[in-house]
Amino acid sequence: MSNKSKVAVIGAGFMGSMHASIFAGDPRAELVAVVDSDFARATALAAQLGGGVKAHASHQELLAAEELDLVSICTPDHLHLQPALDIAAKGVNLFIEKPIASTIEDGQKIVDACKAANVKLAVGYLLRFDPRYYKARELITNGQIGTPIHIYARRNSARTEGPKRYAGTLPLALHVTVHDVDMVLWMLEGQTPVSVYAQQTDILLGSIGTQDTIAGIVRFSGGTLVTFESAWSLPAGARHMIDARLEMIGTEGSFEVQCGDSGLYFADNQASREIDTQHWPTIGGQVGGDLRAQLSSVLAWLDGAPCQVASGEEAIRSLELTRALVRSAETGEVVRLPSAHQNFATRKGE
Ligand SMILES: NC(=O)c1ccc[n+]([C@@H]2O[C@H](COP(=O)([O-])OP(=O)(O)OC[C@H]3O[C@@H](n4cnc5c(N)ncnc54)[C@H](O)[C@@H]3O)[C@@H](O)[C@H]2O)c1
Repeated sequence: MSNKSKVAVIGAGFMGSMHASIFAGDPRAELVAVVDSDFARATALAAQLGGGVKAHASHQELLAAEELDLVSICTPDHLHLQPALDIAAKGVNLFIEKPIASTIEDGQKIVDACKAANVKLAVGYLLRFDPRYYKARELITNGQIGTPIHIYARRNSARTEGPKRYAGTLPLALHVTVHDVDMVLWMLEGQTPVSVYAQQTDILLGSIGTQDTIAGIVRFSGGTLVTFESAWSLPAGARHMIDARLEMIGTEGSFEVQCGDSGLYFADNQASREIDTQHWPTIGGQVGGDLRAQLSSVLAWLDGAPCQVASGEEAIRSLELTRALVRSAETGEVVRLPSAHQNFATRKGE
């Protein structure tokens, strides 16, 4: 008898295809099915993966047909809610791509549904599995940084990548800044954000319904100051795929996480770019990197190992702070946040 976790992936797009490939190649998982409302896409992915992986056109069809231990949701952010509620109600564990949902209200419904059904819920903040960020956090928890004074977190990329896929659906901050927000909250354990100020511009990308850049300053309850900077408006020829940094100054030490240089730069007569070696590089036909480490950790958690993945509650906190940055940028006002563990964004639609 097999004791592999039976897994399905919903959404056979950019992320879902990689999730499916990872689960298909993991000895602890049996990838049962892939689902996409574009059935031709689901069928093509299932055929490419082989090994008897089935294709379904909806999560309802999936749940009616298959016995499952884990479902990974890789639909667009605003379409995480319904599959998540239905899957939790069936008693199946969930992995959901960041940022859990597009609104705090939806995210909270997902967390509540998973609690009520007593199923596990993990959210896809894969930087937690990037050794550079992981080791940086260890410097803090080991006491080598002392009290954090200031953090600078940057994530900039070319206009030819993110905006092409996500413009018009959700703000830049929800796609990009939210990764750094999760990192900062993870590193500043015990502190809560108290005030937020941000500005954004849409000089270049406003015509396609998104922002060029957002910059924010957040003060935390312990006095730590954090500056966030995200842009997806760099020119197509920008050297770095993702020019990301996280720098911290503390009372006893400082560190810099430098992710701009992937270690592999390629140029020819058409292209000039870094090639991903960290997040999801394909090696020997298998998707690897942080994404594989993260999904592998989810499977280990199902098998009883400690949880290393971002929880639903942590994802709500990241969404709350990111939404506060967006609200400040949209209104030009400082957003003041209530104290720890109090859900401060009660407005509908945030
Ligand atoms: N962790 C990361 O670094 C990272 C990077 C990119 C995207 N994401 C997140 O991953 C998720 C998916 O993004 P993507 O880039 O793969 O999007 P995508 O557009 O490439 O793929 C989404 C797929 O979902 C399908 N779909 C839409 N509604 C559906 C439904 N109701 N049922 C079944 N299938 C449905 C679409 O047809 C499409 O194939 C988003 O939440 C996004 O924010 C995370």
